[in-house]
Amino acid sequence: MQEVINYIESNQQNYIEELKEFLKIPSISTSIEFKDEVNRCANFVSSKLKDAGMSRVEIFKTEGHPLVYGEWLGAPGKPTVLIYGHYDVQPVDPIDLWDSPPFEPVIKDGKIFARGATDDKGQVFMHIKSVEAFFKVEGSLPLNVKFIIEGEEEIGSESLEPFINQHLDLLKCDTVLISDTALYDVGIPTLTYGLRGLAYMEVEVTGPQRDLHSGTFGGAVGNPINVLAEIIAKLHDKNGRVTIPHFYDNVLSLTKKEKENFKLLKFSEKKFAKELGVAELTGEKGFSSLERTWVRPTLDCNGIIGGFTGQGAKTVIASKATAKISMRLVPNQDPAKIANEFTKYIKKITPKTVKVKIQNLHGAYPVLIPLNDHSTVAATKAMEKAFGKKIVFIREGGSVPIVTSFVKKLKAPTVLMGLGLNTENLHSPNEHFNLNHFRLGIISSAYFMKEYSL
Ligand code: BES
Ligand code: MN
Ligand code: MN
Repeated sequence: MQEVINYIESNQQNYIEELKEFLKIPSISTSIEFKDEVNRCANFVSSKLKDAGMSRVEIFKTEGHPLVYGEWLGAPGKPTVLIYGHYDVQPVDPIDLWDSPPFEPVIKDGKIFARGATDDKGQVFMHIKSVEAFFKVEGSLPLNVKFIIEGEEEIGSESLEPFINQHLDLLKCDTVLISDTALYDVGIPTLTYGLRGLAYMEVEVTGPQRDLHSGTFGGAVGNPINVLAEIIAKLHDKNGRVTIPHFYDNVLSLTKKEKENFKLLKFSEKKFAKELGVAELTGEKGFSSLERTWVRPTLDCNGIIGGFTGQGAKTVIASKATAKISMRLVPNQDPAKIANEFTKYIKKITPKTVKVKIQNLHGAYPVLIPLNDHSTVAATKAMEKAFGKKIVFIREGGSVPIVTSFVKKLKAPTVLMGLGLNTENLHSPNEHFNLNHFRLGIISSAYFMKEYSL
């Protein structure tokens, strides 16, 4: 085993050069004009899996973006781990705020800067390289390994969902290993056991049949932007609670043990506020920031479109206004039920002066992973060995939509072994990945395979 680790240590420079090539591909899944680049990225992943030593590698076409599958099943009698990740990335806007172009990776202060560096290309690459190291040094893997790397995570994993149903045998495994979450802090080995779910809605308010002169008509007609703002304002009460009926019905409260565990994390609200550049934090009354982001459901407006947004002033009442509103969900909320309650409530509070159209764009179930499976024990040992420190267990506010399907359909426990940091600007300008964590991630992955094979 030590030889494998030594091999990984001495190949860092090569790994980083290869990772740069991965990061240069603008695989933005949401934009149709990047379709060819997304395909090119799938080919890149597939060739890296082949080079690493996987014996069967296949690109599966879907109605959306391709799925990359790889396997090596040369360890009969040993368990099988399915490694999941995504090669698609978020759009880059606002582009002006990037210090260097998002698809021209640069290294600064031990970090690699590019779109997708931490979410999730850098983390996917760790596992490809740990597998490769085993083949190079030992000629085989200590257990059976499958990879499923998708190109639609950032848009809701729509193709992977039916693919799982149709390929239950192909994906059959004993555990699923995912690196698409964050460490608690720099250099702290971390396993995540909870993720929030999601219900993502679009609300379109239409007033007069055309844009109007705001002097001639202002005051006599429902202004869609004003009305939309009122609707959004009504979605929270003064204690920061969401006002949608039945919203909190199935929310699990924090166990005593978890509460104690959160305390041990010594989270600094002050440092958190400072890092975000805000004078004061806010949220649901009676909860800490960790609780608000990890175990409480929330509602946020993600974007708002309407009216005149050009330079200078234009006196106009727009005919239409739209808001993108997402709700982060926690166990045991159901995204479809919440979307339904949201729709009913919006309809109820919308005045007759306007028309409203509500769409459910996508959803994800929340996740809570029991910590007693052998895979969690193996992952704990692996990370503790790699980092030389004691593990911490955390929950997370983000979502990885497909996890619930793995658990339900493949009946496989999941390990969330993320090596990112929440301060690495995922989804925003200057995304980066700590290269020391990249190295420790490859080593953790290798130790995991060894530990889990025992
Ligand atoms: N890797 C993130 C999720 C994440 C981020 C988990 C930080 C834990 C910590 C993932 O790529 C992501 O962005 N998910 C989306 C899902 C959505 C687009 C359906 C999210 O959470 O917004
Ligand atoms: Mn991700
Ligand atoms: Mn993401």
